Amino acid sequence: MAQLWGGRFTKETDKLVYNFNASISFDKRFYRQDIRGSIAHVTMLAKQGILTEEEKEQIIDGLNGILRDVENGSLPITDEYEDIHSFVEANLTARIGDAGKKLHTGRSRNDQVALDMKLYTRDEVTELDGLLRELLEVLLTLMKENTETFMPGFTHLQKAQPITLAHHMGAYFEMFKRDRQRMRDIYKRMNLCPLGSGALAGTTYPLDREYTAELLGFDGPTLNSMDSVSDRDYLIELLSAMSTVMMHLSRFSEEVIIWNSNEYKFVEIDDAYSTGSSIMPQKKNPDIAELVRGKTGRVYGALMSLLTTMKGIPLAYNKDMQEDKELVFDAIDTTKGCLALFTGMLRTMKFNAERMEESAKHGFTNATDAADYLVNHGVPFRDAHGIVGQLVLYCIEKKIALDDMTLEEFKSISPVFEEDIYDAISMKTCVEMRNTIGAPGKAAMEKVIAAEEAYLAENPEL
Ligand code: ARG
Repeated sequence: MAQLWGGRFTKETDKLVYNFNASISFDKRFYRQDIRGSIAHVTMLAKQGILTEEEKEQIIDGLNGILRDVENGSLPITDEYEDIHSFVEANLTARIGDAGKKLHTGRSRNDQVALDMKLYTRDEVTELDGLLRELLEVLLTLMKENTETFMPGFTHLQKAQPITLAHHMGAYFEMFKRDRQRMRDIYKRMNLCPLGSGALAGTTYPLDREYTAELLGFDGPTLNSMDSVSDRDYLIELLSAMSTVMMHLSRFSEEVIIWNSNEYKFVEIDDAYSTGSSIMPQKKNPDIAELVRGKTGRVYGALMSLLTTMKGIPLAYNKDMQEDKELVFDAIDTTKGCLALFTGMLRTMKFNAERMEESAKHGFTNATDAADYLVNHGVPFRDAHGIVGQLVLYCIEKKIALDDMTLEEFKSISPVFEEDIYDAISMKTCVEMRNTIGAPGKAAMEKVIAAEEAYLAENPEL
């Protein structure tokens, strides 16, 4: 049991209490950030004359040695320390002696842990941004390749109007683009340095907080020391943004699962991204999509959990806040994993263009266009709606598509129909006529593709 305190205690901590309180099993994850923060801190202490240059050099050498040994495996981070901060400080003092004991001058574990978690999270936000960007690139490629791949668009999971695969992928492009924008907003808002806030009320040492903030790549120091040590808003924002990413991935997964079913056969998931059944030899299951859909609940759960943890905490630091870590780590790992796997699955998935077009044809998705044809020939819309309703009924009885009717059959229901009805209700026309901004028509789609391409070029990785 190695702790940084104990001076005012006359008894050993109960073993159960020690274990309940300790955080090393999970905060060892940010040993790199802890060491980086300490290096910045002592660099500043020396600049301010609080440590000598020699002490600073000794401490930094010691810290770099610890970093090296942890990374090469010769110094395992074990549970005998209370937390990662104790581990680093104890090992530093063991290596360099008394100078190590000066590391914590003008610092508390409260501002230290606030810093470590921010540094760690900031890197993860950058990675999430990159993963979202990769997904957007795959989507944009699919959009470019499929402006004439017709498929049914659905409402109520009923075939509604024809669209293209480019248009469908474009809808997800918008969702994940907003997700990416949210990550970048969070990055901007969180990028202020809490180091130097002490336990809650700053310190009496002449710390240069602007300098440490700069050394650590922050836009500046935080402006209230009590808020600095007890702010977990940025984690809540991140959990919320990741919940939305997962919600989008889950919707998309649901569609992939439906499209991959024997009834639809719109897509075939690559062998590398599917799994088999131990009993049914014919099966190729969309497990990755199902797992992504299933894991969404964990991330939502983390958001609700942290919101609840924070809601009754008086200022400033309270130990409840230690609960932020496992939740956030798990949610980040889950979201990153799901993004990477989903992107890989999408990149390798085969779309069955013929099957999708057939499905659009046989679902009367051109019924609105048949009605519009009549309207363009002087029939009031409500009457046109009724006439096309009769056409649909007729086709259902005969088990044919609107396009399969002869002109005589059309004319027997309304004399207004002429030879040009076939062109008016062809898949191509139905889609091509829809060219308002955001619609599936090729010309409209190409403008959007150009705009999204420009967006990606103007927003490289963080
Ligand atoms: N393990 C603690 C946490 O994660 C570090 C801060 C401890 N501070 C304290 N005053 N006990 O929040």
